[in-house]
Amino acid sequence: MKRSFVVLGGSGDLTGRLLLPSLAELYELGVLDGDVEVLAVSQQEWDDERYREWARERLTAHAADLAEDARERVVAQLGHQPGDVTSPDDLRTALARVDGVPVVYLALPNTVFLPTLTALREVGLPEGARVVVEKPFGTGIEDAHELNEVLHGLVPEEAVFRIDHFLAKQTVLNVLGLRFANRIFEPVWNAQHVESVDVVFDEDLGLEGRAGYYDKAGALRDMLQNHLLQLLAVVAMEPPQALDAATLQARKADVLRAVRADPAHSVRGRYTAGRIGDRELPAYVDEDGVDPARMTETFAEFTVTVENWRWSGVPFRLRTGKALGTKRKEIVVRFKPVPHLAFTDEQPQPDVLRLQLSPDGIALEINLNGAGDPFDLEREVLRAASPEQDLPAYGLLLREMLAGDPTLSISDVEAEQGWRIVQPVLDAWAADRVPMVDYPAGSDGPA
Ligand code: BG6
Repeated sequence: MKRSFVVLGGSGDLTGRLLLPSLAELYELGVLDGDVEVLAVSQQEWDDERYREWARERLTAHAADLAEDARERVVAQLGHQPGDVTSPDDLRTALARVDGVPVVYLALPNTVFLPTLTALREVGLPEGARVVVEKPFGTGIEDAHELNEVLHGLVPEEAVFRIDHFLAKQTVLNVLGLRFANRIFEPVWNAQHVESVDVVFDEDLGLEGRAGYYDKAGALRDMLQNHLLQLLAVVAMEPPQALDAATLQARKADVLRAVRADPAHSVRGRYTAGRIGDRELPAYVDEDGVDPARMTETFAEFTVTVENWRWSGVPFRLRTGKALGTKRKEIVVRFKPVPHLAFTDEQPQPDVLRLQLSPDGIALEINLNGAGDPFDLEREVLRAASPEQDLPAYGLLLREMLAGDPTLSISDVEAEQGWRIVQPVLDAWAADRVPMVDYPAGSDGPA
């Protein structure tokens, strides 16, 4: 069946930086059967030719390493329909223009999902259509629920792709292999042996011109509610009986239902002016498009517990921030000390397993007998770099959307659970019950 992408928000950052370049990558790698028509809908009063010029320029900026042929194949299949994505009439006109069964991609800010989907429901979609929604899925628990209801009135749940591109990252996929294709980790993967788990995504990037979206979202809604909780879910879920969409989503949903966050264990921060390498960053509140009165955080951290037999009592610390001095992107599983030490050394550091994102890899820190005195202990690190992904995360996701396989997307339940977990923290922050901590750009974040 021929498919066409209808990209709502087709002149936005996501389309130009990720979607079109990923499509070019799929062409270059030869993983698509044929060419894919893309109709972009945006408020720009552009005709097809003008849109193609914009797209060509974006592809040159973000897919310069790909062959010109692959980029031009994308451009040749592009069209543009000026319009308001919340207007049923404009959507009707756009949908009438495509040849294939539509995959409607909401490459839009989360604040306009609801009016857009409501308008789409008024228009209706043909049999077999799919809908793709980016993260964050709404702005809070209530509108996430409403979004799910509108979506279910539009297409069946299996045809909804709620995107969290972290699920398509190599390390995240590796967690499944590491845990469920090896015998040695699963027996110790529980509260009896694990002391704590950290899920950390510290970025050295600042706002990167995204104030329009970010200032209304903040670190908690942008990263923690979705990406970091999904990482937690794959680390903490029970072994799936199969790796299909329904099973994986159900196992992740079980874990998310068990997660409890206490706002008393949360930290919110905002960067002040500083320097990262040779880049000078202004204070977040002085960035173009930021409204300081919104009190948007650029750093979020909190510790959650997973209230089930496997994880009861183990703290899972989630942390992410912008404009930090050191990039640190990893899941750290710290094991408990050995129950008895026959060595005369002091108790050595417990074993630590690091699942590292970008560059992807795994590091296992263990204690071994050192050189010299045979009973002296030394810390050794066993490392494995993951092979570079053939398909970057977005390419993989686009391929899955075209194939109709939602295994790497998020279910309705997971999306709502994500909000259920963070809502007490959002409420406490909104009520100013947790102070905003300033940290200089380039530092390690709030103490
Ligand atoms: C996005 C967030 O979803 O993920 C960004 O909106 C963040 O703020 C990005 O920088 C991180 O993902 P990646 O794959 O670019 O490292």
